[in-house]
Amino acid sequence: MRQLQAARRLIDSASRPVSFSGAGLSAESGIATFRGHDDDALWNQYDPTQLASQQGFSENPELVIEWYKARRRTLHAASPNAAHKTLSQQNNWIHITQNVDNLLESAGADPNDVLHLHGSLLRDHCNANCGFTEIISLADPPDLRQCPKCHAALRPSVIWFGEPLDDEVFNLAVSHVMACDLLLVIGTSAQVYPAAGLIELADQHDASVVLINTESVKLDSERYAFVQGKASEVVPLLFNSEPS
Ligand code: OAD
Repeated sequence: MRQLQAARRLIDSASRPVSFSGAGLSAESGIATFRGHDDDALWNQYDPTQLASQQGFSENPELVIEWYKARRRTLHAASPNAAHKTLSQQNNWIHITQNVDNLLESAGADPNDVLHLHGSLLRDHCNANCGFTEIISLADPPDLRQCPKCHAALRPSVIWFGEPLDDEVFNLAVSHVMACDLLLVIGTSAQVYPAAGLIELADQHDASVVLINTESVKLDSERYAFVQGKASEVVPLLFNSEPS
């Protein structure tokens, strides 16, 4: 309770707030996390090298595309939860997310205020980088198909292991974090860099850091306000109703 109140005070007094989210933000919308303790966590079930790497795609592109089709259909059936809704209602917030879903935008966040560090399930691009991109249907996701421009394979526009982040998106995220006075970190294991480095960057620039997670996280939580709980329960409490 003390942590919740401390976190509320930090949020109330922030003038340049930024959220930084991971899979835990969307977990209660039915989107699996990657490294959770539950059996549904994707990297407990699947080999990332097979399904989320250039090597896996060149070895078995059909398998990779089938897996993304299933994830895209799951996202199509998902709705924003109370955490997405609360965040999207805040004015002057920038949302940096590792999530490849569109649930913050579906909840009403301005797409210009949401930075997707790890790409998006809603788009394909040419695997040979000829420049072709296309918005796809989540309801009826595409099979493995060729780029209409250069005939290489098309692939989901998500960052795979071993690939760099989009420079423009990452640099923008860095500049927002360097300028923020509060970083609200929601539902990330903070294990994947360079994204996770944004938390340390905020701290180095004297921003307050508030962490929300169902599990205690391996970070300097003595210095950060840490609220343990589900995003959909904790986020509305931080913004809306007075805790009793
Ligand atoms: P992880 O699956 O690594 O971590 C999810 C975190 O959310 C864990 O720390 C959980 O304890 C926490 N969590 C689970 N349910 C929660 C809930 N309801 N409320 C609050 N917290 C909850 O996911 P990320 O940190 O996002 O990369 O993973 C980072 C990247 O690794 C992903 O973007 C993905 C993956 O490989 C790419 O796709 C490039």
